[in-house]
Amino acid sequence: MAKLHLITYGCQMNEYDSERVAGLLRERDYELTADEGDADVILLNTCAIREKAEDKVFSKLGELRALKRDKPSLLIGVMGCMAQLRKGAIQQRAPIVDLVFGSPAIARVGELVERARREGRPVLDVGEAPLVKVTSRPGRPGPKAFVTVMEGCDKHCTFCVVPRTRGRERSHPPEAIVAEIEGLVAEGCREVTLLGQTVNAYGRDLTPPTDLAELFARVNDVEGLARIRFTTSNPYNLTPALIRAIREVEKVCEWFHLPLQSGSDRVLARMNRGYTRARYLELVDALREAEPALAFSTDIIVGFPGETEGDLEATLETIERVSYDNVFVFRYSPRPGTPAAAMPEQIPDEVKARRNARVLDVVQRVTAARSRLLAGRTMEVLVDGTSRKNPGELSGRTRCNRVVNFDGAGRTTVGDIVPVQVTEVLPHSLRGALATPEEAVCWSK
Ligand code: SAH
Ligand code: F3S
Repeated sequence: MAKLHLITYGCQMNEYDSERVAGLLRERDYELTADEGDADVILLNTCAIREKAEDKVFSKLGELRALKRDKPSLLIGVMGCMAQLRKGAIQQRAPIVDLVFGSPAIARVGELVERARREGRPVLDVGEAPLVKVTSRPGRPGPKAFVTVMEGCDKHCTFCVVPRTRGRERSHPPEAIVAEIEGLVAEGCREVTLLGQTVNAYGRDLTPPTDLAELFARVNDVEGLARIRFTTSNPYNLTPALIRAIREVEKVCEWFHLPLQSGSDRVLARMNRGYTRARYLELVDALREAEPALAFSTDIIVGFPGETEGDLEATLETIERVSYDNVFVFRYSPRPGTPAAAMPEQIPDEVKARRNARVLDVVQRVTAARSRLLAGRTMEVLVDGTSRKNPGELSGRTRCNRVVNFDGAGRTTVGDIVPVQVTEVLPHSLRGALATPEEAVCWSK
């Protein structure tokens, strides 16, 4: 068998796409290798969301030059968002690249690789293509899996390159999604994360139209599945029906990733996010009222063009007010072709760095306070592996998406859902002890 080495950058959707590519190439007798020196084909699945993500890819391509020199038959391909954004410019800057293809071409990856090997000249495939649900996988899934339910995004956030790299919103039919999940569950999967760039806009482009709440209900009926997660939602499309579904659909977990980006109305308007801080807080309150156990996480951008110290204060206040369980903070990065990149009042790097540190300070305080609330609680944990620091310990996640490490070897194993009592609250994880089901307070709804 020929050897494939896959390097994945960026979001969960890329992880999902990489699995599909590995599955499709497996059908053509390529097996995965963790060792790039051993590979016949190296594919980089790339991200273009921030400049840093692109820099990483070019620096990796630079590193691969030596490998290609020693082994000229090695095929190097670049796929994903950068491929779609930069197209032929990638091969110009990094001539070792033999193949460039965007996500619409994933279904054809087998042919593309063969063509690049056969023709021995650069192959480029970054056009639009009809949406196909590729479900091929390289091996058995673990207890958790991602499932893409829609591609693309129709929003026009002024900072974001995704509508350019992933195209328009297109939903997969519910039947195809349910069939994929049934297949995963038959192989031992217990938890799925439904993925979309604006996952709560799911289904409005289908005939007949449907929505994420209805999809939850259908996925909930898949026997053997224990948990449903979904990401990423946009506050703009958050409907009362979805809020109700989060409360009522049993397998939907008590965790909601709801990007805020900024707590300042002035900045939100310039970002074209379609909501105000007041509206966002109203949604959070409605969600918490519907499901008091709900944990929130969010994305924040600091240093958006024109952001003042006052705007930053508004963001800090909002973070405190919502009291998130987890916050991802990004420094604004101008992206080609986006309106914000051409806005005046770009913020210098050192100001972005300072604001980033200030946000992280508040985040650390807020999330630590949330963590302390969990001390002593017994929670439902899906065991998904061993602890990163101590391989003798098991690790898993609560329904509210917290990592818990605990000593359970011999008594429970990967794929089990067990009650664990939190015995220690650490900065990035929890430690716990296996408990009895009767003690579990957040076992399920
Ligand atoms: N579809 C998702 C966004 C995907 S990008 C959503 O609607 O939230 C993930 C996160 O990257 C965004 O939420 C945003 O916080 C950040 N991001 C996107 N573009 C960025 C840019 N140009 N600079 C810095 N951060 C950015
Ligand atoms: Fe990007 Fe906004 Fe869509 S952040 S992915 S344009 S919702």
